Amino acid sequence: MSFPDIRPRRLRRTPAIRRLVEETRIAPSELVLPMFLREGLTEPKPISSMPGVVQHTRESLLKAAHDAVSAGVGGLMLFGVPEDANKDETGSAGLDPEGILNVGLRDLRREFGDATVVMGDLCLDEFTSHGHCGVLAADGSVDNDATLEIYAEMAVAQAEAGAHMVGPSGMMDGQIGVVRRALDKAGHQDIGILAYSAKYAGAFYGPFREAVESTLQGDRRQYQQDPPNLREALREVDLDVAEGADIVMVKPALAYLDVIAAIRERVTVPVAAYQVSGEYAMVEAAAANGWIDRERVILESLTSIKRAGAQITLTYWASEVAGLLRG
Ligand code: PBG
Repeated sequence: MSFPDIRPRRLRRTPAIRRLVEETRIAPSELVLPMFLREGLTEPKPISSMPGVVQHTRESLLKAAHDAVSAGVGGLMLFGVPEDANKDETGSAGLDPEGILNVGLRDLRREFGDATVVMGDLCLDEFTSHGHCGVLAADGSVDNDATLEIYAEMAVAQAEAGAHMVGPSGMMDGQIGVVRRALDKAGHQDIGILAYSAKYAGAFYGPFREAVESTLQGDRRQYQQDPPNLREALREVDLDVAEGADIVMVKPALAYLDVIAAIRERVTVPVAAYQVSGEYAMVEAAAANGWIDRERVILESLTSIKRAGAQITLTYWASEVAGLLRG
């Protein structure tokens, strides 16, 4: 026999062979579309740093949600953006049943029933005048335990509005346990928790700040994780699972594939990843310059996130990709 004896290239020779041996395949049902609902808009408003993504009106939210659901997208994650006048020190508009996020959750649930999975972002940053994910202590730091009390009420308000799942994203210690107990106590034992367990205080959330008109000064490094740390993410995940998380999530996605893989090895609950605004913006910007093949990069990035171990991915491209996958 002539050298080489073993030829891996045989399995790459034709598209049909490659398809046969493909190890990772993404499907529409595992994609979740994050959506922004802005109070007081009369028409959808483009987000300049996220070309193709808008702040929705109540009407356009339902229309875009229909497009997503009919393309086969697996779920919707809603963010509410109140008018400036409705932001305050404690983020009370997040608890108000008539606050924009709860209004949107109610609209989505009424429209879709159980035909999709309706999720609400459970955090205060969109609702506080200072833009932090919790309430502030006298020294200006975010007060963990005072914030937990508010998250508990906010979770119940979202469940009552119709969310199937809540997504605590504030990285307060104990948030999953507090939310779980509050939901149970209010009779919402069947409402799930998608825990943002390993959420890093990196620089990839830039465009999201525009999307939610964030008022934040400074950063979130006192509560979100430090990018160099992996074992700390495992600790956060262990706590969240012990406190009752139904799904754990890593965020951002592409720069944290090692974290996704390590968590996937460790837990038996589903692992999700959030392909965040900065990841979206980089690809769109490069594609707009003609520097990369937009569709291929989008599919490659989502495939990589799944290959690393995320079985669910939140992505602003969810509807488009679902359409591409269905041909
Ligand atoms: C907090 C929250 C943020 C994102 C999702 N939930 C902002 C932050 O932590 O600073 C970012 C999502 C993105 O960048 O796409 N409510």
